[in-house]
Amino acid sequence: MADSTSEIPIPIRVQENATEPTSTGQKIDPWNVQGEIGADGVAKAINYNTLIEEFGTKKILAEDLERFEKVTGHKPHRFMRRGIVFSHRDLNLILDRHERGETFFLYTGRGPSSDSMHIGHTVPFEFTKWLQEVFDVPLVIMMTDDEKFIFSEKRTIEEVMSYTAGNAKDIIAVGFDPKKTFIFSDYDYMGGAFYKNVTRMSKMITLNTARAVFGFNDSSCIGKIHFGAVQGATSFANSFPHIFGDDDSKTSQIPAMIPCAIDQDPYFRLTRDVAARLHYAKPALIHARFLDALQGPGSKMSSSVDTSAIFMYDEPNKIKNKINKYAFSGGQDTMEEQREKGGDTEKDVAYQYLTFFLEDDEELEKIGNDYRTGKMLTGELKAKCISELQVYVKGFQERRAQVTDEVVADFFSAKKLEWKGNPNPTVV
Ligand code: TYM
Ligand code: TRP
Repeated sequence: MADSTSEIPIPIRVQENATEPTSTGQKIDPWNVQGEIGADGVAKAINYNTLIEEFGTKKILAEDLERFEKVTGHKPHRFMRRGIVFSHRDLNLILDRHERGETFFLYTGRGPSSDSMHIGHTVPFEFTKWLQEVFDVPLVIMMTDDEKFIFSEKRTIEEVMSYTAGNAKDIIAVGFDPKKTFIFSDYDYMGGAFYKNVTRMSKMITLNTARAVFGFNDSSCIGKIHFGAVQGATSFANSFPHIFGDDDSKTSQIPAMIPCAIDQDPYFRLTRDVAARLHYAKPALIHARFLDALQGPGSKMSSSVDTSAIFMYDEPNKIKNKINKYAFSGGQDTMEEQREKGGDTEKDVAYQYLTFFLEDDEELEKIGNDYRTGKMLTGELKAKCISELQVYVKGFQERRAQVTDEVVADFFSAKKLEWKGNPNPTVV
């Protein structure tokens, strides 16, 4: 997969860990998710099509979905059918490998910044779980507790490590297969083969490049500048000899496919560049868009703002109240007006949430048509959204209650993983 063309655009950036707004005025990076600010001072919805051009990724097209279905024998996930998972890098190469029966692995992660994960965080994990079932491949999940210490003014190491333990239980409750999944904390796993790759990668990133990609400046601590090598090195299969074996010449050629929301792309643009120079397999990516905050399009949910999101611990009544009170409505001000003019499903948060969580395509289409033509009222739409989310969150909470410390220890143990087509089944 190696080639020599650089994917890193090199504009000069000045702000501390915040990239400049893109040419269309939107600001999407690991620290910011904001649509263009309109003349009225309000952030507009994120334009994902221009983001594809600016980031240099590929849009997932109807023909890609067809090929996906042909190669895997599975109908594409509702996130793919509805353009929620909308962009990729080298998905075609991963499908080629799968067709030839060659291994790849899935890699995703979480920065444990607090005890509360919201429904937006579960989007890439839900999708990853589905990919794991479809492809039957190993999965590594990185908990970047070090990142959440380095990038915060106040969090202590003890604090972020405690979030790692709790967040890992939440992630496990999504439903990953313990036989095929390795979860690790940076603080615990750093060393050995992983650290070797971290240093290989860090040696190839100049300060100049880190500034350009991430917007660091002279006052940024060196931990931040280095962290990109940590998140990046996890993309290389030879960081995990207990899974893939210790023949570097072979394992370094096994690519990762990384499902994540598009804010994480800068890390992997950089990683793909370095991979080419190390003659390692470049990671492929598959990007999701964001689940909007309750306040509407153009904003990202925040773990520290309770009214911005539905959290995975919210009780049914709390979900109901939050949607009724805070979910931005694309409906009209009065019932008469709504009947006459209909509502705007593009802006309506309750409708948007249904596009993420309601499985049935026909039902979703009917709801959309009814709402746009005024047949359905905002209250009815919100009620539907509330009941879907209550079911989703309740299912999660029931599975979460089953996740014991022993289950967690098993996921974190450096054990041999099992999957069909494991080229190296005897590795311990
Ligand atoms: P973190 O913890 O900020 O986010 C975890 C994952 O959730 C995605 N995400 C969202 N997706 C949809 N809607 C939202 N509102 C929303 N908010 C967050 C993020 O894009 C991410 O996929 N540095 C990373 C941890 C990490 C990682 C990775 C993530 C390490 N390696 C590889 C993805 C892939 C972080 O702090 O993620
Ligand atoms: N300010 C963010 C937080 O506290 C920091 C952050 C979120 C971040 N995602 C990141 C930093 C990814 C680096 C990479 O959560």
